[in-house]
Amino acid sequence: MKNRFVLLAFLVYPATLLAQMPPRTPEQDSLLARTQRKTRADHQQMLGQLGITSLRTGANGSNPQAPNAANYDEALANPFPKLPEALTLKNGKKVKTAKDWWSRRRPEIVEDFDREIYGRMPANTPKVQWEVVAVSDTVIGVVPAKVKKLVGHVDNSRYPAINVDIQLSLTTPAQATKPVPVMMEFGFVFPPSFRMPAQPNAGPGWQQQLLEKGWGFAVLLPTSFQADNGAGLTEGIIGLMNKGQHRKPDDWGTLRAWAWGASRALDYFEKDKDVDAKKVGIEGHSRFGKAALVAMAYEPRFAIAYISSSGAGGAKLHRRNWGELVENVAAANEYHWMAGNYIKYAGPLGWDDLPIDSHELIALCAPRPVFIGSGDKGDAWIDAKGMFMAVAAAGEVYELLGKKGVGAPEFPALETTLISGDLAYRQHAGGHTPGPNWPTFIQFAEKYF
Ligand code: GCU
Repeated sequence: MKNRFVLLAFLVYPATLLAQMPPRTPEQDSLLARTQRKTRADHQQMLGQLGITSLRTGANGSNPQAPNAANYDEALANPFPKLPEALTLKNGKKVKTAKDWWSRRRPEIVEDFDREIYGRMPANTPKVQWEVVAVSDTVIGVVPAKVKKLVGHVDNSRYPAINVDIQLSLTTPAQATKPVPVMMEFGFVFPPSFRMPAQPNAGPGWQQQLLEKGWGFAVLLPTSFQADNGAGLTEGIIGLMNKGQHRKPDDWGTLRAWAWGASRALDYFEKDKDVDAKKVGIEGHSRFGKAALVAMAYEPRFAIAYISSSGAGGAKLHRRNWGELVENVAAANEYHWMAGNYIKYAGPLGWDDLPIDSHELIALCAPRPVFIGSGDKGDAWIDAKGMFMAVAAAGEVYELLGKKGVGAPEFPALETTLISGDLAYRQHAGGHTPGPNWPTFIQFAEKYF
């Protein structure tokens, strides 16, 4: 088990964090090599299904001298400035009423995201049986809290060779007298000896901040039910649904599968008397920020979302030439997040051939509140401005539904707090971390909870 965690960490963590990890054992090396081989084979198999023989190369984020070095020049960042229109039907007619949004335009956008970007979730996903495996008391900061460790057993009768268990924990203030709002995070798995670097002058962590408000928090481990690599696509919940076979080009990718798990956790919260299930939010950082945005877009029961540094494949416009590109996400190390069809946009098609863009993913969350955040130093890869542009462009859908957009047309200065509307945005001055934006997000959430 420990080996699995360490392997996961090597596949998941950005290089800067990996540098602090203990060296790999030969056993871990061979497991990693096997996973990479299987991933490349699955990627190749999907290229075969799509009839693609070559892909454009992604941007190089680590070597500014490389011929394909990532672009960080705003003058070159918007080769396709005209975005698909969220409020225009495919037949060219404008959407002018909430009714037309819900009954006509929104389903068109969902269909495009399903087919081309995140893949279709199967209609008959199995039941999940939640088991409380342990309950314990703890104190976080000065707040006594109750921790429940949960496992969601996924019914695998359709293909017993694959066993899937969802790991979740729920922490609520011990002294709560009524059900509390809960923020659920997609959690990174940490091997026992590994910690995120401490942040200089960091105050209390997000968990403590939430408990001090009288709210609870939950941590869902996405990699417990769907691995973060292409090798895992024939395993986990995606593999279970496909009976261990490869995906079809419009089958769901890992982000959509992680979002499915978040919905199953919400099913559990609806039955737990400690939780006010009408006030459950979803949060994720980086690849899990992408997953959190997908979860919020597709699951109407999530009341609010904090999407941190989600970048490419998340809130960043696919049409932006800045930092990470469509081509990076389509490559063997990341394509599993998406539908196979997404790879087409890295060759033979181009970014502008996408019928939709990420402002429309944010629009699918409307009218519910969404906070989009990012960092600064060391976080350029995720394209803070490309995410802001998407938030700004989603505003017209919020307004049509009687809500408020982000309230600023231009990319704001660092640390400007935009939380007066129902779409919120803030770029903090720290690096690639959700930490510094938590207090601002909580302030935003207070308007609703
Ligand atoms: C890589 C990847 C990003 C992702 C990030 C992370 O940098 O290119 O798309 O968000 O890892 O999850 O930390």
